[in-house]
Amino acid sequence: MRTKFAHRIEHIDISGIRKAFEALSGDFINLGLGEPDFETPEHIKTAAIQALKSGFTGYTSNKGIAELREAISNKFQRDNNFSVSPDELIVTAGASEALHIAIHSVVEKGDEVLMPNPCFVSYAALTKLAEGKPIGVPLTEDLTMSVEALKERITAKTKVLIVNSPANPTGSVESEANIKAFADLASDHNITIISDEVYEYLIYDGAKHISPARFSDDVITVNAVSKTYSMTGFRLGYLAAREEYVDQMLKIHQYIQACASSISQKAALAAITGPQECVAEMWREFKRRRDFTVDTLTGMGLQFPVPRGAFYVFPLVGDERNIEKVEEFL
Ligand SMILES: Cc1ncc(COP(=O)(O)O)c(C=O)c1O
Repeated sequence: MRTKFAHRIEHIDISGIRKAFEALSGDFINLGLGEPDFETPEHIKTAAIQALKSGFTGYTSNKGIAELREAISNKFQRDNNFSVSPDELIVTAGASEALHIAIHSVVEKGDEVLMPNPCFVSYAALTKLAEGKPIGVPLTEDLTMSVEALKERITAKTKVLIVNSPANPTGSVESEANIKAFADLASDHNITIISDEVYEYLIYDGAKHISPARFSDDVITVNAVSKTYSMTGFRLGYLAAREEYVDQMLKIHQYIQACASSISQKAALAAITGPQECVAEMWREFKRRRDFTVDTLTGMGLQFPVPRGAFYVFPLVGDERNIEKVEEFL
């Protein structure tokens, strides 16, 4: 019998983290979602209010307002060490939409998508929605991806490699040598890298954030103001890629989203071009919390690599070999 819903949607489920978030309310500390708990900085809120008051409330260009794309282009040059013109950028509804249009523009039925395992919940679900096949790359003891493990999983069907450093849910940060090796390997096998860099500024102990786009132009770089500026509800992200990619992704963006929120775009402009002391302040608090969490869990006898990025700790609870049993993440 014909089923009511598309096959592709029946093969994904609401993530466990989301279910817990929606189900729980009341007087407890909810560690469910990866979300800063700080107020959005005042100058960013003011920019959003000004956008509203001045009537900047209509559709914008599909790609996003020119001043914001200019600011993002400068940011990539300054902080990430690679050049991208404002025309090679799309402003999206959060990193979530950027990941969606990136994956949907390159993945076809049966294509294999390599991703760290465990990884952020969206990667496998979006791959399945595009009728591709998520292939988990098991992590090393320090919770990073090894080039050897990657190599072993490359097949003729491999289309995309997803890199996420600093990583959700492990807090690990890939070294420059690893990022370069991933980029080289991907180039050799004609694999597109999608690099999710939403935690780029949350990095500790001298670790460095390195963008794969420094070493290859076959990279779609995804980012957002969500985590850096405590703006998760603004739903404002962006992606950078070669113009031929942008042309294709823009079609999906246009039909599913039209444009990112005009108000949020003005707020993001204030965030990226305004004073950055707020980022340092939040960083100090995240670092204090990380140290506290690490000390407390260590005191309880748990073992884990000390996270050098993001705001996650990934302790091995019980059987040390649990790390090999995370297939259900995918
Ligand atoms: C690794 C990673 N990428 C993307 C996102 C989604 O970001 P946004 O809120 O900008 O859609 C998250 C949110 O938790 C995340 O952890």
